[in-house]
Amino acid sequence: MLVLGIDTSCDDTSSSLLDISDNGVEIISNIVSSQAEIHRKYGGIVPELASRRHIEMIWHVVDEALKGTKPEELSAVAVCYGPGLIGSLLVGCSFAKAMCYSAGIPLVAVNHLEGHILSVFLAGEKPEFPFLALIASGGHTCLYRVDDYLKYTELGRTRDDAAGEAYDKVSKLLGLSYPGGPQIDRMAKTGNPKAIKFPRAYLPQSLDFSFSGLKTAVMLTIRDNPRLNVNDIAASFQASIVDVLVRKTEWAIKKHRIKRIALSGGVAANSELRKRMTEMAEERDAELYIPPVSFCTDNAAMIALAGYHHFIRGDTAGLDLNPRAYLPL
Ligand code: KG4
Ligand code: ZN
Repeated sequence: MLVLGIDTSCDDTSSSLLDISDNGVEIISNIVSSQAEIHRKYGGIVPELASRRHIEMIWHVVDEALKGTKPEELSAVAVCYGPGLIGSLLVGCSFAKAMCYSAGIPLVAVNHLEGHILSVFLAGEKPEFPFLALIASGGHTCLYRVDDYLKYTELGRTRDDAAGEAYDKVSKLLGLSYPGGPQIDRMAKTGNPKAIKFPRAYLPQSLDFSFSGLKTAVMLTIRDNPRLNVNDIAASFQASIVDVLVRKTEWAIKKHRIKRIALSGGVAANSELRKRMTEMAEERDAELYIPPVSFCTDNAAMIALAGYHHFIRGDTAGLDLNPRAYLPL
């Protein structure tokens, strides 16, 4: 079954073609056109510029993903319809609807978060159900219990900033360019994580997260100590984020008695988080599943895979599908 995925939820235009059969998932293509260069000089994503760039790129990206496959040969087109930037989502949804209408093929609507959760099934060892899923990205930080495909229970979410958002905001405070996560990750390797004791919002009795206080603490520290070593700030900030993400996942393992964890979202590309989560999983005798970096950050292969699971259950969307900026899973 050939399923095309489209994701334009944020600042990457992405399309992917999957061939899915009883033998597994073959990723025929996974094209991601990054807009980082456009947004870099503004220190963050400018929504209007993101939508305009999606309009310019969507045709090329989908064409490249199809690799000569005709739209009529597809079993379905899966599109991310939220959550995300409304103008960006509109481009992907409109394109997918037009394609399905003209080729007479089914349309499937996919929640972006569902894509991140299922990204763990795209490559490598796959978890059995049930498992715990931690999504840490630029727009979201949430913990789910996953009992089956399309059966998710939210256990916790951020009450303010997402982990990736904190990385991007702190990198801006440090005078680094957007996106900040990969740069802080690199700088932290030569910094002292114990140099500054930044706060950790553990929020006892809850699996929710909060990172806005940490961001403020970094801002005040930089203001009051302009001579501090930048790599030490990066390492100390990262230690705080990673401590919280790892500790909360550990609490979820204990509370829900599930010893399988899937880590996804852009922040799952972080080397320290991957290392510390691996150590914690070993200590707790738990299985840890982390997709390769290209499937941690936004991609349409995860949307196509989630779309496939909706499609085989008969869950298709009408051509009146509207994108939604806020869309709980
Ligand atoms: O999942 P993603 O591509 O987009 C969203 O759905 O938000 O995540 C992007 C986020 C950005 O905030 C970026 O700074 C962060 O992931 N990120 C990282 C790393 N690579 C990307 N954060 C920490 N360490 C990294 N290596
Ligand atoms: Zn994402």
